[in-house]
Amino acid sequence: MTTRLLSAAVPHGTTDLAHHRAVHGALPVLGRGDADALVDVLTAAGLRGRGGAGFPAARKLAAVAGSRRPFVVVNGTEGEPASSKDRLLLGRQPHLVLDGAVTAARVVGAGEVVVVAPAATHDAVARAIDDRAARDEPAIRLVAAAEGYVAGEETAVLAHVEGRPPVPRLAPPRPAERGLDGRPTLVQNVETLAHLALIVRHGADWFRAVGTPERPGTTLVSVSGAVARRGVHEVPVGVPVDDVLRLAGGPGEPVRALLVGGYFGAWIDGAARPALTDRDLRPHGASVGAGVVIALGASACPVRTVARLASWMSGQSAGQCGSCVNGLAAIAGVLVRLADGDGTPDDLRLLHRWTAMVDGRGACAHPTGTVRMIASAARLFAVDLEDHAHHGRCAACAGTGRAAATAHGRAGAVAA
Ligand SMILES: Cc1cc2nc3c(=O)[nH]c(=O)nc-3n(C[C@H](O)[C@H](O)[C@H](O)COP(=O)(O)O)c2cc1C
Ligand code: SF4
Repeated sequence: MTTRLLSAAVPHGTTDLAHHRAVHGALPVLGRGDADALVDVLTAAGLRGRGGAGFPAARKLAAVAGSRRPFVVVNGTEGEPASSKDRLLLGRQPHLVLDGAVTAARVVGAGEVVVVAPAATHDAVARAIDDRAARDEPAIRLVAAAEGYVAGEETAVLAHVEGRPPVPRLAPPRPAERGLDGRPTLVQNVETLAHLALIVRHGADWFRAVGTPERPGTTLVSVSGAVARRGVHEVPVGVPVDDVLRLAGGPGEPVRALLVGGYFGAWIDGAARPALTDRDLRPHGASVGAGVVIALGASACPVRTVARLASWMSGQSAGQCGSCVNGLAAIAGVLVRLADGDGTPDDLRLLHRWTAMVDGRGACAHPTGTVRMIASAARLFAVDLEDHAHHGRCAACAGTGRAAATAHGRAGAVAA
């Protein structure tokens, strides 16, 4: 498999500056005058954000370039429980991320980079910042990431850096117009900046040499669920999802379904096994997103699994918007009743009605992303849901001899 982001990785440790430079070469020093050139290279490379939404990196950079006293914020919050790629990069390859952030800051004219990173990566990132201190680079500030799913949403990240509760605010204005301290701010995901650091070294054609035309390059994929080893792998975008499962040691049992794209993603049939690219995933309602693949084994009850995810996501609401707080709680309640064997066919009708009602509501994408995941489950696991509604259990519950008992498991965990 092609490794780019992870090509300088050392076993069980953090790559230091000397080894990082030996493998990747020196970082080209760009300045404000290079903004148009970098925007052109990123456009030609087709780099899309790796924080979930897949927004073109060139357009965001162009929006902030030339503005007055902007900031660059590295979003390493990674609130998605099934994702650990950003933690891996920050903890093991911090210089690659910092190279990308410093380059973006130089080009947009930011005097400061703020790295928002989970506590577990702080030693590695702080050491990397110290190692670069003597260089002529913008100041780099390290901030401990807030916990929780919505804390990673960009306006929540900015609120947190400003010392306020990490909850999203209504946008527009987007951070590119009004961000930290009211100043234009480029918020970019950790992995996006690591790719940028390689694109400035090697160019757009190099980046496009792997991947697909609409989503070029490699991507980090966090694989978990019914596989031998959960972990993060770098693969070219567009590899068959089977290859990704193989890298994780293969499934331990037949795969009933895959949740692709994380808790905002979509459930797809385990037999479908599409290529990991948006073009192939789109017909299933999924996208590569932040590169999450969760395998659901045939022995696991899908209704209990989805009830558990829905309950966890409902608990992650920032509590500001009625449709999110009440809607997600009501939907999760229905799913838990069904999973517990206490549901009725009426609950099933309510599930469909309420998921449709919540879609598109709220100040941020949390309720919409969550109900899309639930709606994909309702389509794929329609028979299992009917079985739970009518008989209190499904074939998987019966097959494992498990009564359809409590759906409350470890927060955010997917049954393996
Ligand atoms: C509820 C919610 C949670 C999010 N969590 C994260 C996160 O943990 N990390 C992240 O990089 N982006 C997250 N995002 C996306 C960010 O708002 C933002 O789009 C991203 O950091 C921009 O970087 P990118 O363009 O490089 O992907 C989240 C969005 C939403 C709506
Ligand atoms: S939609 Fe939900 S998570 Fe987003 S701001 Fe409103 S209450 Fe918070």
